[in-house]
Amino acid sequence: MATEIRIEQIADYVGQKVTIKGWLYASTHKGKLMFVRLRDGSGMTQGVAFRPEVGDDLFETLRSLGQESSLIVTGMVRENNRAPGIPSGYEVGIEAVEVVQSVSDYPITPKEHGIEFLMDQRHLWLRSSQQWAIMRIRTTIKRAIMDFLDNNGFLNIDTPIITPAAAEGTSTLFELGYFDDKAYLAQTGQLYNEANIMAFGKVYCFGPTFRAEKSKTRRHLTEFWMVEPEMAYFDLNDLIDFEEKFIVYIVQQVLAKRRPELELLERDLAPLERVAEGGFPRISYDEAVERLHALREATDDPEQKELLAIEWGDDFGSPHETVLTQQFDKPLFVYGYPTAVKAFYMEPWPGRPEVCKSVDLLAPEGYGEIIGGSERMSDPEVLVAAINRHELPLEHYQWYVDLRRYGSVPHSGFGLGLERTVTWICGISHIRQASPFPRTINRMNP
Ligand code: 4AD
Ligand code: MG
Repeated sequence: MATEIRIEQIADYVGQKVTIKGWLYASTHKGKLMFVRLRDGSGMTQGVAFRPEVGDDLFETLRSLGQESSLIVTGMVRENNRAPGIPSGYEVGIEAVEVVQSVSDYPITPKEHGIEFLMDQRHLWLRSSQQWAIMRIRTTIKRAIMDFLDNNGFLNIDTPIITPAAAEGTSTLFELGYFDDKAYLAQTGQLYNEANIMAFGKVYCFGPTFRAEKSKTRRHLTEFWMVEPEMAYFDLNDLIDFEEKFIVYIVQQVLAKRRPELELLERDLAPLERVAEGGFPRISYDEAVERLHALREATDDPEQKELLAIEWGDDFGSPHETVLTQQFDKPLFVYGYPTAVKAFYMEPWPGRPEVCKSVDLLAPEGYGEIIGGSERMSDPEVLVAAINRHELPLEHYQWYVDLRRYGSVPHSGFGLGLERTVTWICGISHIRQASPFPRTINRMNP
């Protein structure tokens, strides 16, 4: 009798007869031996068929199967330290095969394909081992995020996706008709989180957010997942300490649970191991601008000189973030940005109204911003003035001002972009591979 297993359990079945339901990833044969790489969604293993044992019919059937044929394999599990797979070191001596569907013209072959072709085939490309590894890491990151917050006294409270007003600037709103009215897809759940903390203390929302990003970059999607923790009685320093613990935990979990996947992606683990130690540097925006001036001074490359040009008061572009993070071997906190480049709700710096109590976390190795956060304005008058200065319709924000009228307290929160975090932790070059079905300015298919 064979036991039906998933490949991820194979180590527990050495010397036993098992059945695996999966798909053919690749096959090669050498004389009387045939090696079948079998995947079942949970892992990948090697099946071995020996002609004199399985017989000519089965051997020829296996030989005729194309990539991605679906098949059910039964055989004995053996240890073989040279056998590739996830987990590696095991193989199945094939005894019987049931072909569920024989496939002959799978579009994605082991040869190189262009990225646009692969994105058009995204519904199939997800089966390829690197894409599979990225999605497995993504799910572990999500789990780590939720475990950390759930274990630290947070309530997971959902926030609306249909919203009447902007929260992160009016230039990236997706508008939709709402009966006789207009509405927008949520850019963030933060403003609702701020209402929720006054009821529950510590909350987070975690879901899709939407921004009509009109530029093509390696870091922007139009639909992305964001986790947004928000805390009452929390100031900027509390926030920075908390964010560091949060990132350390996430990276530790991925290192502990997804090493084979990271190795499959050929991810250099040393930088991640440094992150897992904590101790992230913290610099002010003022210091960051000074560093950028010095870096620009030091380069002879005219193109770099142009890209790195910056004056106090300007927001950072990707080139600035990239060179700043390359100066450190851990994630970098930059706090105290100019008020003018940030959202309307950030608490002013005491005695320096042109600066706000904001903090971004820039991922190392050139990846740049993965977290944006701040202490929030807690005074109703200061908030109303900011709403007016940003020319936002006050009638839509009255409820938000109310939060400062009835039991206002210092409070803070942040948003971590899931796909940017996946891109960085996986060490991949473009955010589109961090989402199963990414949406960008020029793609919403498949
Ligand atoms: O810095 P952002 O715009 O901050 C907020 O939305 C705050 N309301 C969050 C909060 O304090 N609760 O966005 C936060 C993060 C960014 O650091 C980035 O990781 C991600 O969201 N992000 C994007 N990721 C992919 N594509 C985009 N277009 C993104 N825009 C922001
Ligand atoms: Mg930001």
